[in-house]
Amino acid sequence: MKPIRVALLGCGTVGREVVRLLHEQADELAARAGAPVELAGVAVRRPHKHADLGDLLTSDASGLVTREDVDVVVEVIGGIEPARTLLLEALKAGKSVVTANKALLAEDGPALAEAADASGVDLYFEASVAGAIPLLRPLRESLAGDRITRVAGIVNGTTNFILSAMAASGASYADALEEATRLGYAEADPSADVDGYDAASKAAILASLAFHTRVNSADVHCEGIRAVTAGDIAAAATMGCVIKLLAICERTPADESMPESVSARVYPAMIPATHPLASVDGAFNAVFVEAEAAGQLMFYGQGAGGAPTASAVLGDLVAVARNRVLGGRGPRESAYASLPVRPIGTLRTRYHVSLEVVDRAGVLSTITGEFARHGVSIAAARQTGEGNGNGSARIVVVTHKAPEAALAATVDVLAGLDVVHGVHSVLRVEDLGRKGVAG
Ligand code: NDP
Ligand code: HSE
Repeated sequence: MKPIRVALLGCGTVGREVVRLLHEQADELAARAGAPVELAGVAVRRPHKHADLGDLLTSDASGLVTREDVDVVVEVIGGIEPARTLLLEALKAGKSVVTANKALLAEDGPALAEAADASGVDLYFEASVAGAIPLLRPLRESLAGDRITRVAGIVNGTTNFILSAMAASGASYADALEEATRLGYAEADPSADVDGYDAASKAAILASLAFHTRVNSADVHCEGIRAVTAGDIAAAATMGCVIKLLAICERTPADESMPESVSARVYPAMIPATHPLASVDGAFNAVFVEAEAAGQLMFYGQGAGGAPTASAVLGDLVAVARNRVLGGRGPRESAYASLPVRPIGTLRTRYHVSLEVVDRAGVLSTITGEFARHGVSIAAARQTGEGNGNGSARIVVVTHKAPEAALAATVDVLAGLDVVHGVHSVLRVEDLGRKGVAG
């Protein structure tokens, strides 16, 4: 059988493992794909660091992706450029593409899909979300006969490690981040993880597949975990909750402001300690998918790391190789539904608001009055303090579901009141119940 020839772009954490598995499992991969899968070349930035790859090495990635003897391009460089230009060149030249690049897919996925369609070749990207966990193929293929209502979960290992460490030991955010860096989970510049952008890219990809709608990273409301304090974690515990950085993609029903739409958002939220996502600790990922006929499905496993991510890359590579051997293509982009994306302000969420206030009679009623004035219904309010007019008291308010915009306006007003020393924290409370609805 004529071999399937692979150009590998990038040979770092993931790329090195792709090379190892291609080499170690060559016979089995050939049997599964229906033809030998061979490396044709490996493009890196600094070839001197990869001398063991010998003649396969090149620093001319552009030349490699259009070479006559290349069938498939595997991209594990990351970032927008030069990855975008290289992949567009490869697709135009009739090469199928496998990529782990969530940032690029979330920013410009449709351009890649259109280039793949124009050339009649494959575009696979299982490794771009949740590392080793088979998640995109179930959304694209296994659930293609169902109507997905929600995809929600933990899709960033670094932040889950930090929040788990804070919950386990009472550590501060800064100390937990230092530990994550020491153990190699967080990068030197951890902002893509801790500011939520990595999870937002993944949410854009998940929402696009689940709801047959183009959703890009700019459509995803994104808040990270930098502001989460040990006090927030303790407050969550007193409510029987834990705090997790969630990516939530929902089909939201029509209401007075919008037709049926899609919501995609990333933020730290309190979830019940009894929910299965609450016990996902360390750098693991877990995602709940809800579909009308299938009900709830949970996907769990290693969402990062060289070997787990390479497993997903190799799975895609075998799929592409099979398509080449047998003829035909894998699934194309499906964006027929074209649902509008719901602005965050119209979503309805429960909130936990913690305030530092003047410790005297009537303050609780002033505070709860502001919630009422903005139409935000209170589920519970608790005040701690001596009530003697000296010093501060702490007021914690938990709301029923309320529009984000109304809650934000309430908090703005509260922050400006004379009797409020400060808004200590504002956290969403997600019950992650059965129905993926806006309110
Ligand atoms: P690394 O930073 O470890 O490796 C990047 C590789 O790309 C290096 O080999 C580097 O070359 C090469 N490279 C960088 N710029 C160029 C260029 N201009 N031309 C050619 N080669 C270049 O990244 P990772 O392996 O961690 O990540 C790769 C991709 O996989 C990213 O898209 C990432 O988001 C995704 N991913 C990573 C996961 C992980 O756990 N690491 C998990 C899931 C997805 P050199 O070695 O010479 O510097
Ligand atoms: N930085 C990511 C994480 C890697 O921590 O989950 C996987 O995409």
